[in-house]
Amino acid sequence: MKSLTDVYTLSNGVTIPCVGFGTWQTPDGDVAVSSVKAALAAGYRHIDTAAAYGNEGSVGRGLVESGVDRKDVFVTTKLWNSVRGYEQTKEAFAESMEKLGLSVLDLYLIHWPNPAAFRNNWEEANAESWRAMEDLYNEGKIRAIGVSNFLPHHFEALLKTAKVVPMVNQIRLFPGFPQRETVSFCKKRNVLVQAYSPLGTGKLLSAETLLALAKKYGKSPAQVALRWSLQMGFNPLPKSVTPSRIEENTKLFDFSLSNDDMEILTGMENPCGVGNHPDHTSF
Ligand code: A2P
Repeated sequence: MKSLTDVYTLSNGVTIPCVGFGTWQTPDGDVAVSSVKAALAAGYRHIDTAAAYGNEGSVGRGLVESGVDRKDVFVTTKLWNSVRGYEQTKEAFAESMEKLGLSVLDLYLIHWPNPAAFRNNWEEANAESWRAMEDLYNEGKIRAIGVSNFLPHHFEALLKTAKVVPMVNQIRLFPGFPQRETVSFCKKRNVLVQAYSPLGTGKLLSAETLLALAKKYGKSPAQVALRWSLQMGFNPLPKSVTPSRIEENTKLFDFSLSNDDMEILTGMENPCGVGNHPDHTSF
């Protein structure tokens, strides 16, 4: 990858810019609108949101107010845990599209595999939602469909009835938390791995290993973490509401990490914890 708008190609041929702009924990309203505009002005062409983030309306507004052509921006949103079932999924999709102000979505994901509300029948629940997503995909309303937070066993369960293999799995990934098993499962099946919380929600950035390597390369800790993600073949989705950081997180293409330093980062101590286990969420 040589620039922010270089792409990965999904299994169906759709291309996706190699760095996306994250919006989890970005408050709805002016903050979301202005940070999306700042991201598009800084050159991002890929925005990631979700129904659960509560900011789809503002993301849509930022997109319009930026003046960037809709067709030049890759937009992702996600189906929340409170919704499963064929009709319900179609309704939730329509609501998200209404909020975003879009007629075609680039990528729609099942946000979590095993919601608390469907814990007794998550396999069937996902299968029905996936069937709706396949139909929306086949009707041309979504350009690519995928999953998030799926471990291999969730993926295997979905594949029992899926006609379309998910093109993406979006999981929590950063130096010190490489999720090797899930990543290798996805790579074998040509599923693009997207990295959410690529900066460990910011907690990673004061880790000594990262600080030392940042000094060595003359880059910021955030830039080193994002470069690691790209060199791992991931699609990182850094979030920021701060214009200077939004821009800093785009400057990833004028250096490269050595193999030894990649290994150091992969194996570094994880100061951010393992996050929610998808089978034990309270939501
Ligand atoms: P803010 O949004 O206030 O600018 P992640 O992408 O892993 O979820 O991390 C997001 C967190 O990291 C946010 O708190 C964000 O702060 C912070 N952040 C994003 N980019 C940088 C950066 N380049 N330097 C320091 N902190 C950053």
